[in-house]
Amino acid sequence: MTNPRHNGLRSVADQSEEERGGPGSVLSRQSRDHADLDALMRAHDAETDPDARGRILAELGERALRHAFAEETVLFPAYRRFLAGADDELTAHIEGDHQRVNDALEALQRSDPRSPEHEETVRGAFAVIRHDAHDEEDDLLPRLQRAVGVEELRAIGAAWEVQRRASPTRPHPRVPRRPPGNVLAGIPLAVTDRVQDAVDHALPVGAGRRRRALPVVPALAAVAVLALGRLLTRRRHR
Ligand SMILES: [Fe+2]
Ligand SMILES: [Fe+2]
Repeated sequence: MTNPRHNGLRSVADQSEEERGGPGSVLSRQSRDHADLDALMRAHDAETDPDARGRILAELGERALRHAFAEETVLFPAYRRFLAGADDELTAHIEGDHQRVNDALEALQRSDPRSPEHEETVRGAFAVIRHDAHDEEDDLLPRLQRAVGVEELRAIGAAWEVQRRASPTRPHPRVPRRPPGNVLAGIPLAVTDRVQDAVDHALPVGAGRRRRALPVVPALAAVAVLALGRLLTRRRHR
């Protein structure tokens, strides 16, 4: 299949797991997460019961926020370190899309699920999430793959997973999208989100109930980012 970006690189979407560097590579982790997000969006659209749609939307929102946090704290800094420098246009563009999804998720928490505005916000958020996955699978990830080896792709993937598990689970306004601000702001927010998640989990099953948060201490996330930074710096200077 031809890569629509015409950058001469094979989209990660057209590669086997082995070509992506195995199941632990950041390319494979990203692709699996994008597929899961897409499946949740399709499940939402196929559902007619408003409460069930609300539950799917809550799960999708948490998953999208975790995914974006792992990208912004691990993947994009690694990409900029190897390829683009601090003022990279591509990661800045994707970070802008992440902010739009964050804002939409926040608006959805306040809107009436039966209103046309709610549906319009959902449609807008889904379009940005899908566009974002294409930017990464067709452009950012193949460029990273060309620049680094499989060992680095797996090291980035391992740190990415730690951050995904330690991420805040709810949308928050005005959170920095780049390190170190996003890591430092994310740790206390992740703690307060887990308290709220525990409260929600005790509620009867309904639109407000969320799945229990993944069991990782948020402070470990900062340690993982620092360790990855040291590893990548060492490899770059070899
Ligand atoms: Fe993204
Ligand atoms: Fe992504």
